[in-house]
Amino acid sequence: MSFLSVQKISHTYFTKKMSKTALQDIQLEIEEGQFVSFLGPSGCGKSTLLSIIAGLLKPTNGEILLEGKTLVSGRDHVIGYMLQQDYLFPWKTIEENILLGLKILNRLTPDSKEKVTRLLKDIGLEGTESQYPRQLSGGMKQRAALVRTLAAEPKILMLDEPFSALDFQTKLKLEDLVWSTLKSFSKTAILVTHDIGEAIAMSDVIHLFGTNPGHIVKTVEVTKELRKLTPFNARNHRDYSALFQTVWKELESLEKIIPED
Ligand SMILES: Nc1ncnc2c1ncn2[C@@H]1O[C@H](COP(=O)(O)OP(=O)(O)O)[C@@H](O)[C@H]1O
Ligand SMILES: [Mg+2]
Repeated sequence: MSFLSVQKISHTYFTKKMSKTALQDIQLEIEEGQFVSFLGPSGCGKSTLLSIIAGLLKPTNGEILLEGKTLVSGRDHVIGYMLQQDYLFPWKTIEENILLGLKILNRLTPDSKEKVTRLLKDIGLEGTESQYPRQLSGGMKQRAALVRTLAAEPKILMLDEPFSALDFQTKLKLEDLVWSTLKSFSKTAILVTHDIGEAIAMSDVIHLFGTNPGHIVKTVEVTKELRKLTPFNARNHRDYSALFQTVWKELESLEKIIPED
């Protein structure tokens, strides 16, 4: 039995005027501790699939099993989300922001507080506790968002293009930091991205998505060598460019056969 099982998921959005099939027959398995990426052009249903896995959206067909059980929406807060924008509350301090989830879940104890504060230090944000989000740079805010997400100890972390609004250097640094932090907790993670390099540098497995309707075109395993390296070092390894070429060609051939809508 795999940790997370996505079984024959299809989803159609219905509006008054039209219907749009965003996903068709998505089937995949994720092992505990694995770092998986959904890579594909915009509109291929990546965010839709994350919402379905998180239990925020009920699929038209299919089901999601977590440790063999159907996922019930909102239950136990087993899923953590990190988005392109940090969504920190501007009127709350960094400490209040990162402890908010625990407070809402009624799990704020001196122990849990100490743990989260230590994580904030480990992630390089010591001294920002009493500051407000606007006083932090984009990269720092995303780090605070990561601490907030991890504070509730989710079983799976969903990362929906969390680095795409950052400048390139900050993005590379944050990739390393997020990757090492998640590895140190052996967290299972799903990264949504349209950046081939990012997917290769961070993941164990990459699912390539095509559009109209969104479907998995190919699943690529990242080599053992690359998987061991931090994203920054992975980008400098010879396996990286070979894999980049493979994935690039695959995505390019898709563009040729699938018309724009
Ligand atoms: N709430 C919605 N209502 C109707 N169509 C939607 C809705 N959300 C997304 N879509 C459509 O579904 C498709 C997949 O969207 P999305 O999951 O956001 O893709 P991605 O994250 O890969 O860019 C797109 O064609 C999008 O326009
Ligand atoms: Mg999206």
